[in-house]
Amino acid sequence: MSEIIIGIIGGTGLDNPDILKDRTEKVTTTPFGNPSDALILGNIEGVPVVLLARHGRKHNISPTDVNYRANIWALKQEGCTHVIATNACGSLQEEIAPGDLIIIDNFIDRTTKRQQTFYDGHTENFKAICHLPMEPAFCQDTRKIILETAKEIGVNARDGGTIVVIEGPRFSSIAESNLFRSWGAHVIGMTSIPEIVLAKEAGLCYGVIAMATDYDCWRDIGEKVSHKNVLEIFHQNVQKVLQLLTALIPRMGRKDWGTAMEDAQALAKNSIFH
Ligand code: ADE
Repeated sequence: MSEIIIGIIGGTGLDNPDILKDRTEKVTTTPFGNPSDALILGNIEGVPVVLLARHGRKHNISPTDVNYRANIWALKQEGCTHVIATNACGSLQEEIAPGDLIIIDNFIDRTTKRQQTFYDGHTENFKAICHLPMEPAFCQDTRKIILETAKEIGVNARDGGTIVVIEGPRFSSIAESNLFRSWGAHVIGMTSIPEIVLAKEAGLCYGVIAMATDYDCWRDIGEKVSHKNVLEIFHQNVQKVLQLLTALIPRMGRKDWGTAMEDAQALAKNSIFH
């Protein structure tokens, strides 16, 4: 069995979940500035976990202003080998209903204002250029164990889906929503990019548990997305995510990860162009 430390990035509605034992707080900084909040250290059935609220525990940092680089690097500095992120998202497909969980496996990037690499050419020790492959975008073993755990505990979770990541903070126009549907995207959110990319660049095994909270605005019937219904639906269904995380972490601790962690680190290292 491999020694693992699991970072959990709590998104909207999961800013401060009470799922850790022996909780302590650690204020930290990184070469890229401060993460969104203090790290919460603890464990689930003895497996070490580091919790971080993506938007801060008071939920006061907008998707554009989240310091994604500091968040991922803070988890890396704390020794994390894996990151499980949670995300609220809108559904772009009829068959994905509000409250459903989706274990996404692909993305379309529509963000415009975010730094997507640690290797920016000026931060000390990050002066190289990193050309990182994006297929597969997610750690396959991490996605697989999330899906297996969900099945085992009877929580419905969709295997795969493409998320369109928009800059926000506004929601999409109906023309945009229909465009994203025509591209074959399944869900829409505001924070998976650059988080996915940076986790990969840091050599971490990263997976997402996304929850659909609305049908965005493309549907003729029903409510259009609003901040209020995102929060309402997330809160109504949050127990599913907590149940899944609570079963997942011990299972990840017991798993033989083979060469997955070394492979993730080697890919990151081999993508750097000096
Ligand atoms: N997060 C939750 N619902 C969303 C939507 N419809 N668009 C973008 N981000 C979201």
